[in-house]
Amino acid sequence: MDLRGTMRITDDGRLEIGGLTCDRLAREFGTPLYVMDEDDIRARCREIAGTLSRAYPDVFVAYASKAFSTLAMCRLVHQEGLGLDVASGGELYTALQAGFPPERILFHGNNKSLDEVEMGVRAGVLRFVVDNMYELDLLEGVARRFRKRVHVQLRLTPGVDAHTHGYIRTGQLDSKFGLSIVNGEAMAAARRVLASELLVLEGLHCHIGSQILAVEPFGMAAAAIMDFASDLKRNTGCMVREVNLGGGLGVRYRSGEERIPLGKYASAISRVIREKCLAHGLEMPRLMVEPGRYIVGEAGTTLYTVGAIKQVPGGRKYVAVDGGLADNPRVALYQASYEAVVVTRVLAPPEERVSIAGRHCESGDMLIWDIPLPRLQPGDVLAVLTTGAYNYSMSSNYNRYPRPAVVFVKGGMADVVVARESYQDVAARDRIPARLELPYEASSSSCASAADSA
Ligand SMILES: Cc1ncc(COP(=O)(O)O)c(C=O)c1O
Repeated sequence: MDLRGTMRITDDGRLEIGGLTCDRLAREFGTPLYVMDEDDIRARCREIAGTLSRAYPDVFVAYASKAFSTLAMCRLVHQEGLGLDVASGGELYTALQAGFPPERILFHGNNKSLDEVEMGVRAGVLRFVVDNMYELDLLEGVARRFRKRVHVQLRLTPGVDAHTHGYIRTGQLDSKFGLSIVNGEAMAAARRVLASELLVLEGLHCHIGSQILAVEPFGMAAAAIMDFASDLKRNTGCMVREVNLGGGLGVRYRSGEERIPLGKYASAISRVIREKCLAHGLEMPRLMVEPGRYIVGEAGTTLYTVGAIKQVPGGRKYVAVDGGLADNPRVALYQASYEAVVVTRVLAPPEERVSIAGRHCESGDMLIWDIPLPRLQPGDVLAVLTTGAYNYSMSSNYNRYPRPAVVFVKGGMADVVVARESYQDVAARDRIPARLELPYEASSSSCASAADSA
């Protein structure tokens, strides 16, 4: 197994993260449990900022908080000196509650509500990344009411098809996101911003998809954006000062896989921007990127306890754990594939092929299909690796299960950064309308009264 971050295997074959064994974490905090390796998150923040800054003179890295957003995470990102990408009022609220400086926040979203736009303008976020004409109208209206100038980047669809799962591919023309360069919408939006006294066109943005492992699509997207910048300058005289290439950097989900080569990514995009500037006589813009998964993906591990084990005669062996779809919807959503280890027997040789099933009422609630593992017993703790991105942030209360806790581990210490939900939490916002008060006088048409009179 390829170890992630600070993971280590102890002499007696236990999995350790941040100096703590996973069996101990499971005993102390219960399962399912999201464990986040703080040193690994910090290392990835520094790696991205450092690698890009060596390749290009003016860089702004904003962590895409949709991948994993909590107060503690926003604090950590702020400590590391990165910016933040938020894609909703809730992510913005979380950032502001954590004390994240609004002047380092980029506000995304393809259908921001009036409330969200007002919230962003009131807070004074660094940039609104505008997705469509409707949003420009909303934004201008709010800017007028608030008597504030609002600084925007335009999200463009560059027509680049990144080879990743269809649901996480966004750069192609047929996408719900962004303003199309090809059909002239992008240029019309740019003219609209330039004509406005309240909106300031700062930059161009694109995000071509997620979990991309090849460098070429990023170079192609950068080229398309720079060509558009050149057309914009020729048509309007406006030279944008920022080029934002979004996120999408791929990580290792299973042993033997590789992350996107960060150095090659940085040199490819910076080379394209430089060359295009030279070719078109443009000034070098500030380069912005918005990695989410790359920063938190491999830092996350989910611990589960094994329960029911079922051998289908002549078929698969299903090992059910105390979580699944509600804490990790990515398998059902994108057929994501994961690897798992038994936390007290990491080095034990595999003895059988099993499929790890969740506990939710859906046949599609599977975590891993057909994985070779040592023989499992109820009570064993399994660690599913690389669950830091889009797991906690996409979790739900399906089947009215409380959401797991999240702990940050570092140097032998574990801190709860999100407390485990209780059943009371799950039902806390439910209300019973007066007409449903008990006792209930059953009407004659109900099954109960029919049965009583029979
Ligand atoms: C606009 C934008 N930026 C950044 C990201 C982060 O992507 P990733 O986590 O793949 O780096 C996303 C993800 O959906 C996005 O839509």
